[in-house]
Amino acid sequence: MSVQRRSARLTVPEIRARKGQEPIVCLTSYHAHTAALIDPHVDLLLVGDSLGMVMYGMENTLGVSLDMMIAHGAAVVRGSDSALVVVDMPFGTYEESRAHAFHNAARTMKETGCQAIKLEGGERMADTVHHLTQRGIPVMGHIGLTPQNVNVMGGFKTQGRNKDEWPQIERDAQALAEAGAFAIVLEGIAAPLADKISSAINVPTIGIGASAGCDGQILVTEDMLGLSPQVPKFVKEFATLGAQIAKAAEAYANDVRARKFPEQKHTYALKEDKE
Ligand code: KIV
Repeated sequence: MSVQRRSARLTVPEIRARKGQEPIVCLTSYHAHTAALIDPHVDLLLVGDSLGMVMYGMENTLGVSLDMMIAHGAAVVRGSDSALVVVDMPFGTYEESRAHAFHNAARTMKETGCQAIKLEGGERMADTVHHLTQRGIPVMGHIGLTPQNVNVMGGFKTQGRNKDEWPQIERDAQALAEAGAFAIVLEGIAAPLADKISSAINVPTIGIGASAGCDGQILVTEDMLGLSPQVPKFVKEFATLGAQIAKAAEAYANDVRARKFPEQKHTYALKEDKE
């Protein structure tokens, strides 16, 4: 075997080994420049299909295509060099059969250079997860509030508030862990249930709107930057970029209208590198 270049990225086994250890820091990312900015601070970058809403103004994730995921996935891989990059499989690209899932997941890995894929669904997807992981495709699971299921769920609702729902969600987590998922996103799951699942399974749980007791946390980057028009209540905003952008656009417009523009003598010379 010849080795071309050693990657400095975190690997799937390294993330898997963080079960019960130092919390795993994850954020979503959809484009190269923001990936470069957040990459040094996170363990895992998820190219989530939430990009349908965040980048394209869609109402939900159902209209996201594999080509969209691949274009954004490749950009995030180009922009980052240390975090593990995981790309979401969008609705309709993996549920039909294991072969269909393999075909699309392998294409995603080849064309983006990502290290793993994520798909939604628990017990019902376990066969597919096993099939993929046995064939060189690391899989991150996603259970609880699964946005691709929005029409079946009748909206985005916290799962497991009612204890009757617990056994199925616990089976979902266990089935994915046994099928070989290297980590599982617990989205919108009542905290006591998320804690119970985190203690019961032997792979890291990554919480979003679930519990601080998960092995890691993920947020949609634009939500925590204050860039999204609406954010779920559990999201802490670490910046207010939306307001800053609007202010900057207003200041720019005022300059243009006042013909207050810098002299264009160095037109395309670059400013010094910004760190
Ligand atoms: O699509 C996405 O961004 C996600 C995260 C919110 C977990 O699945």
